[in-house]
Parts: sequence; structure tokens; C-alpha cells
Amino acid sequence: MMSKKSKDSLINVSKNEVWKHDLDSSNFETNDINEATSLLLDSYKTYNGRQFLNDDDLNCLLPSDKIELERSTLSYLLMRHRWKGNFCSPVKEKLNTSGTTILDIGCGSGLWAIDMGLNHPSSSIIAIDIDPFKFPSSDRCPPNVCFLTCNAIYGIPFPQNTFDFVNISMMWSVFSEAQWILVIKELVRVLKHDGWIEFTEPDPMVRNRGKKLTWLLECFSKACQEIRDVNVHIHEKIPNYIKEMDELKDLTCMSVDYPLGGWYGCFGDYALKNFKRVFQGLVFLPKYMEMSDEEFNGLLNGCLEEANKNKAFFTIYKCFAKKVSGEVSII
Ligand SMILES: C[S@@+](CC[C@H](N)C(=O)[O-])C[C@H]1O[C@@H](n2cnc3c(N)ncnc32)[C@H](O)[C@@H]1O
Repeated sequence: MMSKKSKDSLINVSKNEVWKHDLDSSNFETNDINEATSLLLDSYKTYNGRQFLNDDDLNCLLPSDKIELERSTLSYLLMRHRWKGNFCSPVKEKLNTSGTTILDIGCGSGLWAIDMGLNHPSSSIIAIDIDPFKFPSSDRCPPNVCFLTCNAIYGIPFPQNTFDFVNISMMWSVFSEAQWILVIKELVRVLKHDGWIEFTEPDPMVRNRGKKLTWLLECFSKACQEIRDVNVHIHEKIPNYIKEMDELKDLTCMSVDYPLGGWYGCFGDYALKNFKRVFQGLVFLPKYMEMSDEEFNGLLNGCLEEANKNKAFFTIYKCFAKKVSGEVSII
């Protein structure tokens, strides 16, 4: 029997090739149905018309399909706008120095990595995600950006002290608390001494929410914990994880408001669309709340109206810290 590792590597090599086929097109020939295709089909499962990664080891709550890819692209653009840039760590000078290496974990659509590659041509960027379906095509990718399929829970496939800057953003839906601790240890291992690591996560409890949104968010929080062991309030834990690591110092935390609804113009409209898409992707939630899909959609629309009326907003947090210097002091 093929080991999980060799099955993974076969999927990684073959998936992008297989995706080039349009399964509905008349060009599709039976001899295209090879082992790689079957592995690809086995890699995804469908619930309620949405496609998910088919891996029992994963806690990932959101789908892996075109709708989620579009949502994650929108989410990236909103975040870049709100934070007025792609990072807050004090690495600007370093990023324009030749030989600087950057790692993005759970890169999704890869837009952060592409932007960083274009803005900092002397840096090299490695962007990792478990799902290569989301990676941009090579013609959209600058030469200093490389995408890698990898499950971060099993480790980051680089030697220690490799990267000058590590970015991990909007991964609240992905890891259990135990997995977060493992992944952070791995990220710190591959971070160079004096390099910076930056986390960006939202507080899911929208401010200025009404009764409907409070109910939805409370059920969402409980469901994610009970069904997938995912703590969606991970933004509260990250500063402590950092403080507990002897290898990290100079912790800085910052936050921005992220308005929801037309009351905040174009940004608020798009932010509300993004919010709706997230909840439409949580296909287990209607059942958990003992509601039909229609009832759930009605509640969701009610929440959106309420958010706009109440001038609701999220708070998004960034925490960044530096890996201690590697110099051995001679006393
Ligand atoms: C919500 S998206 C965040 C995308 C991006 N970082 C951003 O800020 O918009 C979460 C990403 O984590 C990826 N992911 C989930 N589990 C993973 C794992 N175990 N290892 C690596 N990536 C994973 C998903 O495929 C998805 O692209």
C-alpha cells in the first residue's frame, strides 16, 4: 500500500496537471482517467454543493473551491486596504536587501506572496498551502515567488534558521489549539535569528451587533469547537503563545477596525459580502443550529441587515515578534 507521504507527493506533482483538463469539455478522453485523476478526485469531497479537502487529519472549516478562492481574494484585498499594506513588522529595509527570504503559511490565493514578490524584487518568497487548487498560474507569478503544497501540521520542509520574515494570516478556521502550538514552534524553528514572525487574526465577535448576530456568532463559535476542535477566538491566545516561547522577544500587538455594511461605504459593502460568503461556506452550521438551509439563509440576511443598521465592525489583530539573536555571549 502506498504510504501517506508518497501519496501526498504524487498528488502534489500531478494535481496541477490534472486540473488543466476541463471535465465537461468534449476534449476529455478516457485515457486521461489515470491514477493521478483518481487521486485528485479522492482529494476532495462535496457537502451541500461545496467542495472540501478530503483529509480526516485536517480541521479546516472552510471549503476548497472556486467560490472560496474568490472570497479569499476579496478578503486579502480588504485586509491590505485596511492595514494600508501587507505587513507591520519592522522589516521594510531588510526586504529590500538581496538574499532576504520570506515564508507565507496558508497562502490561499497567493496574492500576498505575489504582491510581496513584486514590491520586493530582491527577496525570495515561499508560499505554502495544503491546497494547490488555489495557487495562481505560473504566468501570474513573479520569478522570486514559489508555491509549495504542504500540510503545515506535519512540519515545514525547510532547515532551521531559513527565513527572515514569516507571515501567517487569517488561519482562525484551520487549526486546533494543539496544532497551533505545533505550527508556531515549526515557524519559529525555520525563522532566522533576528528575523520577524507576524500573525493576523480577527476577533470573530463583531462589535455593535444585535440579537440575531449575537446568536449566530455564539452558535458558530460553539459549533467550530465541538465539531472541529477549532477555537475561533485564537487571536486571544496568540500573544500568550508568543510570550511563552523563549526564542521570541519584542512582541508588539496592533489592531484595526473592519466596518461591516454600506454605512461605511464601498469597503463596508464588500466586507459584508465577504462575511456572508464565510458563513455560506460553513455548511455544517445550519444542521448544528437545527435549521433548514432556507431558514439559515433568512437568519444570515437578517444578521447582515442588523450589522448595517447598528454600524457593526470587527476588530482585526496583528501580533509580531522577533527571534532572539543567535550570538553566543562570551563572558
Ligand atoms: C482562510 S484561508 C487564509 C488565506 C490567507 N492566508 C489570507 O490571509 O487570506 C486558510 C488557508 O489555509 C490553508 N490550509 C488549511 N489547512 C492547512 C494546513 N494544514 N497546512 C497548510 N495550509 C492549510 C487553506 O487551504 C486555506 O488556503
